[in-house]
Amino acid sequence: MCGIVGYIGEKNAKDIIIAGLKTLEYRGYDSSGIAFVDNGKIDVYREVGRITNLEDLIKDVPIAHLGIGHTRWATHGKPSKENSHPHTSMNKMITLVHNGVIENYVEIKNDLVAKGYTFSSETDTEVIANYLEEEYKKTNDMKQAIVNMMNDLHGAYALGILCADQQDALYCVKNKTPMLAGVGTGFNMIGSDAMAMIKETNKFIEINDLEFLIVTKDKINIFDKEGNSINRDAFISNVNATDINLGTFPHYMLKEINEQPTVIRTLLSKYLCDGKLNIDQELYQQIEQADRLYIIASGTSMHAGLVGKYLIEELAKKPVEVHLGSEFGYHLPLISEKPLFIFITQSGETADSRVALQLVKQQGYKALTITNVEGSTLSREADYTLLLHAGPEIAVASTKAYVAQVTLLALLANALADNPIDMNLELNKVNVAIDDIISRKEQIEKLVKDKVITSRNCFYLGRNLDYYVALEAALKLKEISYIQTEGFASGELKHGTIALIEKGTPVIGLITQEKIALNTRSALQEVKAREATTIIIAQKKVANNDDDFIIENTHHLLSPLALVVVGQLIAYYAALLKGYDIDKPRNLAKSVTVE
Ligand code: AGP
Repeated sequence: MCGIVGYIGEKNAKDIIIAGLKTLEYRGYDSSGIAFVDNGKIDVYREVGRITNLEDLIKDVPIAHLGIGHTRWATHGKPSKENSHPHTSMNKMITLVHNGVIENYVEIKNDLVAKGYTFSSETDTEVIANYLEEEYKKTNDMKQAIVNMMNDLHGAYALGILCADQQDALYCVKNKTPMLAGVGTGFNMIGSDAMAMIKETNKFIEINDLEFLIVTKDKINIFDKEGNSINRDAFISNVNATDINLGTFPHYMLKEINEQPTVIRTLLSKYLCDGKLNIDQELYQQIEQADRLYIIASGTSMHAGLVGKYLIEELAKKPVEVHLGSEFGYHLPLISEKPLFIFITQSGETADSRVALQLVKQQGYKALTITNVEGSTLSREADYTLLLHAGPEIAVASTKAYVAQVTLLALLANALADNPIDMNLELNKVNVAIDDIISRKEQIEKLVKDKVITSRNCFYLGRNLDYYVALEAALKLKEISYIQTEGFASGELKHGTIALIEKGTPVIGLITQEKIALNTRSALQEVKAREATTIIIAQKKVANNDDDFIIENTHHLLSPLALVVVGQLIAYYAALLKGYDIDKPRNLAKSVTVE
């Protein structure tokens, strides 16, 4: 999950690449680096930590018109200067940046060592640099050297490559890892996504797997893995540069939490016309005629899928299974006669989900991708796409994308229902509840300060839909506050895990479903009897006066959309009070593009 930016053109490459890397920092931020071609040599600068550290390092670097840059999320080798990209070949002929994992790098490295090559890092990336130098030495032709490399390399790679001999060309190679070309006038770019280039251009060319580019300031040449030329039209992206700034918020996560009512309103306007679902008719028929839906996702998106399962089965009476991409991709369960596979992925680039999509496609099944990124890999590789229209989600901890996913799944479920609910009315009630929660966020901050952040671990309890929200709230809390948190079915705790409860352990009970409200309350009594610190988040219709935080009523099937916001804010304030980096938590990246 690294970020790559390359530029060739009339402007100063440094400023454009650094600006692009800053928009990609959410993808990985252990370290960063940049390289420029200047008078027959390549100058490389690398630094650990945030992009600003690199910016300080290169502030006096002379103007250059060709360069590549990289932000790293470590896969091979710890975060260090030596392991940072760009990597340079032994004789300084090739310098490159890489996103992905090369599966056969050890075998290739051993072969290069036998040919006398030496290495200064533990990375698979440096192996590619020396491999290309060797091939370029043999062929004296970068295009042929790349064709040979694509024949020998196995694994996922997006590469930005400079050759010291080539003052007027930038090379880019792509396989199973996101990469896009940006089309300009008097310049061209490559980048891991559109946002990295949107300040310079909104015109892009997709790059498919096993294709490579030779990019000059006036032309982008596309080739297949045999070196045959390919023609492809550019497209205009609707991402706009203003979406990727903080505005008046201290953190992207808080901004994106606040954007959730707008996201719901946008989805209503995009997908509901005169009470009817506004999607492609062929897709609608696929969903309607399927005898079983298989939702496949990872992390927060999988938690949204669990809520989607509940809504579709309740409203549309259609069986739904939910699977983790990382599991499904390696074990196909028994599949029904007429399945439809639904991939939920904010980024559209999650490798675990993509492996599952490729397996589904190999089996000849139809697939829908629900994603926030137009033109993303899982969108392009599925038969159908439904966009979340949530705007770029920058914070690593997903919030508005989850709310968008659940909202869209609710609209799909309702469209299939024999007795549909008034989604316009009910989702507007949800927005009232969300606005109310956000308006009382200081109460949540106080709750966190008094009862949550003091402990090393924490539990969320809930049943049915509240259990699915407990899973998501727990993920939020652990991924940005580093408090070991488990989301638990409230009826299950007593079957073993209650052994972990001790004096002061925070246990947060989530109660919105009337039919099981008392069950969760009794589970909370059980832990309170063991001196846990209980916190009750309840919806007004099932609340007691002494509950800790009460949220406005919504339709019971849509309560996760409001309840989750409390979990998001609990996580936000826990991380804030602990002084951690809220938008870029340790060890994580926004888009997990490696398995
Ligand atoms: C959620 O807060 C995490 N950032 C992570 O679990 C994320 O939801 C997961 O990696 C899936 O990403 P995707 O939706 O882009 O596929």
